[in-house]
Amino acid sequence: MSGFAAFRFRQFFSSPAAQRRSMNTKPKTKSPKRVTVPSLLAMKRQGQKITMLTAYDFTMARFLDQAGVDILLVGDSMAMVVQGHENTLPVTLDEMIYHAEMVGRAANRALVVVDMPFPTNHLGVHQAIAAAGRVLKETRCQAVKLEGGADQAEVIRALVGAGIPVMAHVGLRPQSVHTMGGYKIQRNQDQLLADAQAAEAAGAFSIVLECIPKSSAKTVTNQLRIPTIGIGAGNDCDGQVLVSHDVLGLTSGYVPSFVRQYANLNEVIIHAVRDWCDDVRHNKFPDSEHSFE
Ligand code: KIV
Repeated sequence: MSGFAAFRFRQFFSSPAAQRRSMNTKPKTKSPKRVTVPSLLAMKRQGQKITMLTAYDFTMARFLDQAGVDILLVGDSMAMVVQGHENTLPVTLDEMIYHAEMVGRAANRALVVVDMPFPTNHLGVHQAIAAAGRVLKETRCQAVKLEGGADQAEVIRALVGAGIPVMAHVGLRPQSVHTMGGYKIQRNQDQLLADAQAAEAAGAFSIVLECIPKSSAKTVTNQLRIPTIGIGAGNDCDGQVLVSHDVLGLTSGYVPSFVRQYANLNEVIIHAVRDWCDDVRHNKFPDSEHSFE
C-alpha cells in the first residue's frame, strides 16, 4: 500500500469521523430482538421488571439501547433537560419529532415512546391522531405517551383505533404544573385507580405512575393487566423510569429525591475539558502523535 493509501486507510478507519461512520453502520451480528407492546405485556405476566429511561439524541440513545434498556422515552422533559426551560410546556411537536427521529435511528432493541407535547392531546381526537400520526410516520418510534387517565380516555381510544400504541401517564402530570400549583405528590388513591383503569379500558398498553405513594402504586399495579412504570412511586410497579441525565449525573442543580445517581458525568466532563484547556494553554496538545508530518 502506498504511503498515501496507507494514510487514507488509517484516516478512514481510525479518525473520529470513522468512529462516527462505524456507529452509523449496521452491526454485522444479528440485531437483537425488538421489545414490543405484546412483549411488555408478557413481561408483566412473567413478573419481569421493565426498564425505561429518557433519550433525546442519537449518541445517548445508542448507549442506552446497547446497555439493554427496554423502553427509550423521548420525554417532553427535553424542554427542561436539553432546552433549559423551567417546565415542560414550551417544547413543540416539531421539536419532539426532530429529536425522536434521532433516537429512533439509534434504537435497535428498545421500544421507543414519544411524549405528546402540550397541548397536542387536548385539541380533539382528530388533531391528536394527526399529531401522533406524524410521530409514527416521521420517526422510527413505535408509540406515544400522553398525560391523562379518565379525562383522556376518548383520545386514547381513538389513537389505539388508528393503530397507534399509547402509554398513559397519571399521578403527577408535569404539563398541569400551573393547575397543580407545583410538582406535588398525588395522594388521591380513588382518583389514581379510576384514571389508571379508564386508561387501560381505553386501550393503553402501559401507564406511567408519577410521584404517588408506594401503597397506591401497589394497589393500581395489582388491579391492572397492563404494566405500570413508576417514577417516584416505589418498587411495586412493574417497571421504573427516570430521566437519564439525572441517573448519570448530567443535570446541574435540583435532582428529585426519588432519583439515585449511578454516575457523576458532570465531574468527568468538567475535569476532561479543564485538562484539555490546560494542555492547549501549555502547548502540550496537539503533540507529535496527534499531528501530521
Ligand atoms: O418527560 C419525561 O421525562 C417523563 C418521565 C418523567 C416519565 O414523562
